Amino acid sequence: MKNKIIAGNWKMNKNRVEAEQLITELIPLVKDTRNTVIICVPFTDLNEAVKLTKGTNIHVGAQNCHWKESGAYTGEIAPSMLKEIGVEYVVIGHSERRTYFGETDETVLLRTKAALAAGLKPIVCIGETLSERNSGNMENVLRRQVVEGFKDVTAEELQNVIVAYEPVWAIGTGVTATDEQANDAIGFVRSVFAEKYGKKVADALYIQYGGSMNDGNAKGLLAMSEIDGGLIGGASLVAGKFAAIVNAHK
Ligand code: 13P
Repeated sequence: MKNKIIAGNWKMNKNRVEAEQLITELIPLVKDTRNTVIICVPFTDLNEAVKLTKGTNIHVGAQNCHWKESGAYTGEIAPSMLKEIGVEYVVIGHSERRTYFGETDETVLLRTKAALAAGLKPIVCIGETLSERNSGNMENVLRRQVVEGFKDVTAEELQNVIVAYEPVWAIGTGVTATDEQANDAIGFVRSVFAEKYGKKVADALYIQYGGSMNDGNAKGLLAMSEIDGGLIGGASLVAGKFAAIVNAHK
């Protein structure tokens, strides 16, 4: 059985002092896990996070990157800039970026390819809205996000990708997908990857669940056969809660 990959997505939370407190508290709480632990922090916390987690089992990720190496792209960050300071992972295509910042499957693909080329491991987010689910379109939406968003990602590159299935209706709402809903959706996503890359590659791919995952529901979700980990928002902002999720799967 695979170990699990548990990633915290801090979103736009924690200034430098708060980040230092949270990371310092977290380090001893997760040190004995066999699961992979990642914290995806705001750009301004990255340097500090890399420094503080050096020599620990906590890995650091950013929450976005651009697809160009450099140039006139005000406000953007190149993948190589992240790599240079010791960042290992980067969240791509989070639903908040798709909803508020015009991210599309096309830009998700561009960012993913650029991140991979720079040696970063992208955590690529997909997921349906409530109306898409209720109108029976969940599978169509997930299929489109996988087919378009991974169009020219090779099987070799896919080994360095994590996919996060985050149903939009479960994000920040306190409404978690049931263990079965999450498992079924992830199983479907895996089958779409299998159509393109074959079963072996699809089985090896890590697909996380995200959306109101917390210290109360993590154990059940992580016990499901298709769920390879979690992408945690709110609960990752409290060291004890995030550590409980990390340690929920032995
Ligand atoms: P919440 O855990 O706050 O619902 O957020 C999930 C998420 O969006 C992680 O990327």
